[in-house]
Amino acid sequence: MRRKVTVVGGGFVGSTTAQRIHDAGLADVVLTDILEGVPAGKALDMAESGPILGSDAHAAGISTSAGDYKETANSDIIVITAGFPRKPGMSRDDLLKANYDVIKAVVEAVVKLSPNAVLIVVTNPLDAMAQAAFKVSGFPKSRVLGMAGVLDSARMSTFVADELKVSVENVHSFVLGGHGDDMVPLARYSTVAGIPIPELISQEKLEAIVARTRKGGAEIVNLLKTGSAYYAPSAAAVEMVEAILEDKKKILPCAVYLEGEYGIKGLFVGVPVKLGAKGAEQIIEIKLTPEEKAALDKSAASVRELVNVLGI
Ligand code: LAC
Repeated sequence: MRRKVTVVGGGFVGSTTAQRIHDAGLADVVLTDILEGVPAGKALDMAESGPILGSDAHAAGISTSAGDYKETANSDIIVITAGFPRKPGMSRDDLLKANYDVIKAVVEAVVKLSPNAVLIVVTNPLDAMAQAAFKVSGFPKSRVLGMAGVLDSARMSTFVADELKVSVENVHSFVLGGHGDDMVPLARYSTVAGIPIPELISQEKLEAIVARTRKGGAEIVNLLKTGSAYYAPSAAAVEMVEAILEDKKKILPCAVYLEGEYGIKGLFVGVPVKLGAKGAEQIIEIKLTPEEKAALDKSAASVRELVNVLGI
């Protein structure tokens, strides 16, 4: 049977995510948006690239302005990108309440029709929105994930590869914590061809890479002016989609609901997770130094603040 992935939100992140899934032939794609016509137009355009690219995946686009999500029924995965994006000068947290309302309405609608799906939340502020989706859906924690660590790690890897003039394929970066300015890029666990990066890059340059990684989203917002990043965020979401659809058991940094792991309880925070057909199949715990643990706790505290504001 063909697999089906719904992407909620037909903005740049959503439509690029749908396009990547369609083009790779990973699954049939349903793109939804509250706008009329736009999701259908984008999906038709995508489908018409199929004969050129050799993809037999179906693409459909529907408007949910009347609250009708029927076409999304029985999705294997639902990627939620709907919401308001950041504008220059805006923090991810400014988006909190507006996007909570969006997530709540979307999740209530889609989970009724796809009760066995895995939800991947992309909407910001990421960790709090993932927690909102978890609470609203009533899904087990293994089937609600937030996309951020893959993106943040990819940004760090880009800067490391650039600094050392090596292939990005040699670089494995490791970023823990919430998707905010106090995320925790862990140099000690980041490697180039298996070599920890502190052996290869000076402390000063490493600190600059860590700082740039933390502000990676804002750097793009400031350049684009009218929106936020979408190429790397969509690539990151699709790596998670593929790991689940293909039951790869791939370890990727994702936001998941922690219940005591890393000393954090009742909160979505980014940690290494094994992704397979069941979603988050295992949380990988690693030893942290006291400084690293303090940084993770600080990042978790920022997420906790948002979650408390929402009372979820
Ligand atoms: C970023 C935004 C989308 O990191 O959070 O690019």
